Amino acid sequence: MKVRFTSLAVVIGLIIAGAPLKAQQHNMPKDYVVPTDPAVRQKLAQWQDLKFGLFMHWGTYSEWGVVESWSICPEDEGWTQRKGPYSATYEGYKKAYENLQTTFNPVKFNPEKWVKAAKDAGMKYVVFTTKHHDGFSMFDTKQTDYKITSPKTPFSTNPRANVTKEIFNAFRKDNFLIGAYFSKPDWHSPDYWWPYFPPKDRNVNYDPAKYPEKWNQFKQFTYNQIEELMTGYGSVDILWLDGGWVRPLTTVDRTVDWQKGIKFNQDIDMPKIAAMARQHQPGLIVVDRTVPGEYENYTTPEQEVPATPLSNPWESCITMGNSWSYVPGDHYKSVPEIVQLLVKIVSRGGNLLMNIGPGPDGDWDTEAYKRLQGIGEWIKINGESIYGSKAIAPYSDGNTYFTQSKNGKAVYAFVLGDGEKVSLPSSLTVKLNNTKGLKAARLLGSNQKLKWKTSENGVLITIPAALQNSNLKNAAVFKFEYR
Ligand code: GLC
Repeated sequence: MKVRFTSLAVVIGLIIAGAPLKAQQHNMPKDYVVPTDPAVRQKLAQWQDLKFGLFMHWGTYSEWGVVESWSICPEDEGWTQRKGPYSATYEGYKKAYENLQTTFNPVKFNPEKWVKAAKDAGMKYVVFTTKHHDGFSMFDTKQTDYKITSPKTPFSTNPRANVTKEIFNAFRKDNFLIGAYFSKPDWHSPDYWWPYFPPKDRNVNYDPAKYPEKWNQFKQFTYNQIEELMTGYGSVDILWLDGGWVRPLTTVDRTVDWQKGIKFNQDIDMPKIAAMARQHQPGLIVVDRTVPGEYENYTTPEQEVPATPLSNPWESCITMGNSWSYVPGDHYKSVPEIVQLLVKIVSRGGNLLMNIGPGPDGDWDTEAYKRLQGIGEWIKINGESIYGSKAIAPYSDGNTYFTQSKNGKAVYAFVLGDGEKVSLPSSLTVKLNNTKGLKAARLLGSNQKLKWKTSENGVLITIPAALQNSNLKNAAVFKFEYR
């Protein structure tokens, strides 16, 4: 029997400033289905402890520095606007866009450099776009020639052309968990956007019920591609399926804006895909994003931080810049912004999947490396308050956020800085709900025992001048140990 329970919190508060325009609603499902497979549960628990992962959106679109895939989607939204010299007609644009395949040549591709930077920043898992909605495969698929390893693509002659394999291998070597982002919709496949009709929107452009052979071909194509990823790329931990409009019609939630336009049943047969995938990858976490049920093992709020903890496993995916894809001169979030996002998310029991978009040369913007370095400096001192931690009430109190260690022997209080600078007063009340058994308090990064006494709202700690002036950055973390 499937165990079902309802999310305690279905209301999401947008608590990050300046969320990009393109954040779509990807919020909480009403029902979460706890996986019955013990191997999946174990992997989920392992993944929940990691807290901080790297997301990468990379494809030929990075050559133009435009939004990933969406500029070929014939919907009139802020994020679908066509840019550049070919914008005048839809057909001309799509042709030029797909022709980017013939110039894509990211010769600076060096995944070990990414691994080092991500690892030093404290990231523990990676999710990579093996194929986005535009259908360009960043792996050596046999199902289509629209791929990085096609002779049409200059980079195909590079020994590391199968970039998905190279990325997975490089990160796995350093013990990252490995996640394959895969778009169910494919705007290049003639079985999804049948060239007989013009595409009208993001959805399949014919009725699968009327043309079942066509839809079956698409299902088979999708199954085959996922099977390739599950068999030829070593151990994979997460199958992150995007494009939630490809779903059984019965699961459509008409109250969600982007689901209103779904007309047809686009059942891709998740039971079959998941069974095959898990046969090859036991314990695989499947994230059939926004499709509540058995194949959404964790939920994925996008560009936002839930205001209250969720009762199911979850991960916020958030861009480091303003865009998922590489955009020259993109504005990157500052180190304190990113650290504080991580703290807020972890205090609600979630994971942060932070996106960096590689450029057309195959490297990241130098700003991204700088940010990662700054995060790493903070995490080296404060990591124990993040990894393997759990949420604990009151979760936050004004500018102070909380986590607890898994064994419940320590509670951490994060005092967020105002930007980079953290100013601490000489005495501070920390709202601990439980002071029974409390035996010691200190600031992470220092061995000095702090004076404390219980107060009406928790504990009152005394902070010596030397600690107040110790150049604390981003967030100061107090550790409270219990007997
Ligand atoms: C948004 C974007 C999509 C991107 C995804 C990542 O839904 O539209 O392009 O892949 O976020 O979470």
